[in-house]
Amino acid sequence: MFVILEAIVTTVDQQGNVNLAPMGPICLGDISSLVDTNLDPRSSWHSSCDNPATQSQGSSAISGNNRHVATCSEGIGRTALRVRPDETNGGQEASKSCPEIGFVLKPFKTSRTYANLLENPFATIHITDNALLFAETAVSNLSLETKRSLVYQLKETSWWPLKDCHRWFAVEVSEIHQDPQRVSMDCRVIYSRTVRPFFGFNRAKHAVIEAAILATRTQFLRKQDVLAELERLQPLVDKTGGSDECSGFELLKTTIHEQYARH
Ligand SMILES: Cc1cc2nc3c(=O)[nH]c(=O)nc-3n(C[C@H](O)[C@H](O)[C@H](O)COP(=O)(O)O)c2cc1C
Repeated sequence: MFVILEAIVTTVDQQGNVNLAPMGPICLGDISSLVDTNLDPRSSWHSSCDNPATQSQGSSAISGNNRHVATCSEGIGRTALRVRPDETNGGQEASKSCPEIGFVLKPFKTSRTYANLLENPFATIHITDNALLFAETAVSNLSLETKRSLVYQLKETSWWPLKDCHRWFAVEVSEIHQDPQRVSMDCRVIYSRTVRPFFGFNRAKHAVIEAAILATRTQFLRKQDVLAELERLQPLVDKTGGSDECSGFELLKTTIHEQYARH
């Protein structure tokens, strides 16, 4: 059984434009057992690369006590990406090069995230409790400038973590499985950092994330089903949400109505 994390993923194109998108990567292994690789990657991210104690031969190094350390792979930026054409397993089976602990990203071929990862096989996967950001990025409601203001560049890399999140994982795509329907990208974790405490579970936040998923699927879902689901989710936002959750939910409702009006 695979666990899927609802995450915000940042990628960058060759012009340096940063993209933020909600994605649901499959988690390989116990992601929460990964130990952060450096304390302040903004100033000293090279130090973990230089430390032989944390180096491996290209995939995640595993330390004792069931704790795992994400490490640098050789030649970051010069990665040899394997592309497997027309596979039928859709990434559901671990391939030979699949990391023990890592992620499988499954971006639609129409997405900007997919295009960016083909150009630049690096992504930053974020755990965040910011439901409003899920809403805004799901419906592409942010300008390039706003996106840029929310992230910073890990020195000289293609990783752009969110300034504010619970935790991020800087990953490198090690293998691409080209399925006719949907591509699967095996990702190794190279760095990770815990930034601030997680807020906790909240029904309104979950409702906003559910509505964000609906907003990205109006092309396939029947209007009456989506509107019924929004009606079911509304009380969760009203009863347990704050202003961010309410704004996020309103944005999604408006966008969903606009999208159906255009169909
Ligand atoms: C919680 C959540 C999870 C999502 N997971 C995926 C996913 O795994 N793959 C995908 O292609 N789209 C996924 N989507 C939809 C994309 O976020 C949406 O299509 C978005 O517009 C893609 O942005 P981009 O074109 O900037 O990459 C998800 C949306 C939400 C709200």
